[in-house]
Amino acid sequence: AFNLKGRSYLKLKDFSQREVLYMLDLARDLKRAKYSGTERQTLVGKNICLIFEKTSTRTRCAFEVAAHDQGAHVTYLDPSGSQIGHKESMKDTARVLGRMFDAIEFRGSGQKAVETLAEYAGVPVYNGLTDDWHPTQMLADMLTMTEHSAKPLHEISFAYMGDARNNMGNSLLMLGALCGCDVRIIAPKELYPEASVLKAAEINAKRYGARVTITDDPKEGTQGVDFIHTDVWVSMGEPPDVWDSRIKLLRDYQVNKALIEGTGNHNTFFMHCLPAFHNRETKVGEEIFQKFGISEMEVTEDVFESDRNLAFEQAENRLHTIKAIMVATIGGR
Ligand code: CP
Ligand code: NVA
Repeated sequence: AFNLKGRSYLKLKDFSQREVLYMLDLARDLKRAKYSGTERQTLVGKNICLIFEKTSTRTRCAFEVAAHDQGAHVTYLDPSGSQIGHKESMKDTARVLGRMFDAIEFRGSGQKAVETLAEYAGVPVYNGLTDDWHPTQMLADMLTMTEHSAKPLHEISFAYMGDARNNMGNSLLMLGALCGCDVRIIAPKELYPEASVLKAAEINAKRYGARVTITDDPKEGTQGVDFIHTDVWVSMGEPPDVWDSRIKLLRDYQVNKALIEGTGNHNTFFMHCLPAFHNRETKVGEEIFQKFGISEMEVTEDVFESDRNLAFEQAENRLHTIKAIMVATIGGR
């Protein structure tokens, strides 16, 4: 038996397969309960601090709505609304917030910052995205994949195509290894996962019977695959001057209709954590499209607007899975 009470959720590496499957089961229960109007509140009277040093739509809203559904109160701190980072160290901040809150969510650049917060706060800390990892997203992604596949977990195959050195690339590689899946990372060699991440994934792959493939060939990498994930080509916090090289490296790694139709699997779904730079309505997209003379980026409009796209299912599942993390770690009396 195991118990997740009091645990932080900083990266998948700290968790066993059973612990992750437990949180996924709990998320399914909470989703059903919400749909059927039978949800029971286990976070009544709890206070949760949400620190966002980077912007967010899904993660912030998922934490706020999940907390509200469960009877907890949230305090939202944006980078300009606190002393964190400029006037006060993370260690001191942790010791202050730990005395007021039952749990703390943190989104920012440094993995070290969230680890320090967890070390000194004395209450569970949740990583709402750093440059290295996006662990709350992984529960939503796995929940979505299991909802759209009749296969047992270890038979599910999924690919991640794009910047395989960012938080999503790292996290999906770890997720596949931890869940014993057939996981393929497709990227130009320059953007292959870092050795330390690959090593950690391989340890889990061996433990849980996962098959890990790293390739720079989109066609080969997506053969027979059930799900193709991608992400933005340039992540939050990266300097604007990386766009040029990133577009050159990734323009052949776009998820388009030909790729989806060429997998040999009639049921291949598209997945994206969002936000996506797929259309001209976004300010960033428009500027980049004009500057580099391209019309589409990581995913084409025909794929994004098709019935193959699960991105909005993933977005909803952020709510149910983030709720599960809070209920598992601080739920009850
Ligand atoms: N997928 C995700 O984390 O979205 P936000 O940046 O909107 O939170
Ligand atoms: N890799 C992206 C993920 C956003 C949810 C970023 O860090 O900007």
